[in-house]
Amino acid sequence: MNFSANDQSLEFAQKKDSDDPLRNFRESFCFPQSESSEGPILYFAGHSLGLMPKKAPEYIQEECEAWAKFGVEGHFKSRHPWVSYHETLTEQMANLVGAKNSEVVVMNTLTVNLHLMMVSFYRPTAKRFKILIEPNSFPSDQYAVDSQAKFHGFDPKEAIVELAPRQGEECMRESDILDKIDELGDELALVMLGNVNYLTGQRYNFKSISEKAHEKGAMAGFNLAHGAGNLLLELHDWEVDFAVWCSYKYLNSGPGGLAGCFVHERHHKDPNIPRFEGWWGHDKKRRFLMEREFKSIGNAEAWQLSNPPIFQLASLRASMDLFEKATMKALRKKGDELTSYLQFLLKEKCHVVTPDDRGSMLCLKIEEGSKKLLESLKSKGVIFDFREPDIFRVTPAPIYNSFQDVYHLAQIFEEVL
Ligand SMILES: Cc1ncc(COP(=O)(O)O)c(C=O)c1O
Repeated sequence: MNFSANDQSLEFAQKKDSDDPLRNFRESFCFPQSESSEGPILYFAGHSLGLMPKKAPEYIQEECEAWAKFGVEGHFKSRHPWVSYHETLTEQMANLVGAKNSEVVVMNTLTVNLHLMMVSFYRPTAKRFKILIEPNSFPSDQYAVDSQAKFHGFDPKEAIVELAPRQGEECMRESDILDKIDELGDELALVMLGNVNYLTGQRYNFKSISEKAHEKGAMAGFNLAHGAGNLLLELHDWEVDFAVWCSYKYLNSGPGGLAGCFVHERHHKDPNIPRFEGWWGHDKKRRFLMEREFKSIGNAEAWQLSNPPIFQLASLRASMDLFEKATMKALRKKGDELTSYLQFLLKEKCHVVTPDDRGSMLCLKIEEGSKKLLESLKSKGVIFDFREPDIFRVTPAPIYNSFQDVYHLAQIFEEVL
């Protein structure tokens, strides 16, 4: 999106807000109270923990009441029976990530799902044992791949190959990722990248990466922690083997909220794909027969282990209902405008690390005056985050942020820098 010098005014931001078809969604969220500043809170940390939907306590309360009223029978008698509560999220989640309903399940937390997926899709042999990861991958992802390699008897120093941008560059070139996959060839077992890199905001092209990984005989799995609820995704059509994501960032499910998991349908009934199993993955019609032998549900739900935490599912449902109403397409359109506007207002003031192919998050590198800026932003009621030594991450979330929020944030940068 292009902006002109005239657009740097409060009037412009106000006009954009009044024309915004999604403007009322802001009212559906609780904004934190300001402790130190005189003005309102400016919340730009949706990439870390999304705001609470006002309806979340109501959705949770409904299940508390069902528990009080029915006790154990709430599993079947609650308005949303707990035994199938997670299914109320399946279609919304599948639409959100571009999957078939059968390919998606909400369960566990992100790192747990990543391990479960690697149990199935990282099956190294003496020759093919390497995992390709992105530069600056999130520490939990690094610990997960390292420990999987060790679990299979490999030295992570040999098994884990980390991509690196070219000298003097901050982000990866797509052609370099594809070349690396080519180079690793039949030693490569798994490509495991993020969706949007957590430290640069760079988005990766799943389609071409999956295609190239498959061409070389490797699996392709992705971590959508910074993509689900942020970007338009087509996991099924892009042929990715698996994907995992958390829901407490863009999807506003609350601290420690449940995670999503995608398994492409071609793997659901493949007897060569091993899996860790539990009773919640067992054929639903037969689950309570308590049979000795496991009979798979036959879709992504087969990867479920335990009966899920209903209160966490309830808070996620409160947010997913809003996403369904808003639609990802409209959110992405507004998200692009909001982030482009922020970039336009900040571009003279600091170095933007994030390339154009991105979601809503903008990563800013500020070496000089970063400590002063940190203090000022905090004292003026801006909530965002900072990653040592010099990266400020700010995200205007289209479901609750406004153009005026962006304008006010840029004003603070202007004053301090
Ligand atoms: C990219 C990425 N991977 C993994 C995690 C860890 O998530 P969890 O604590 O839900 O396992 C996070 C959390 O922020 C993340 O951003």
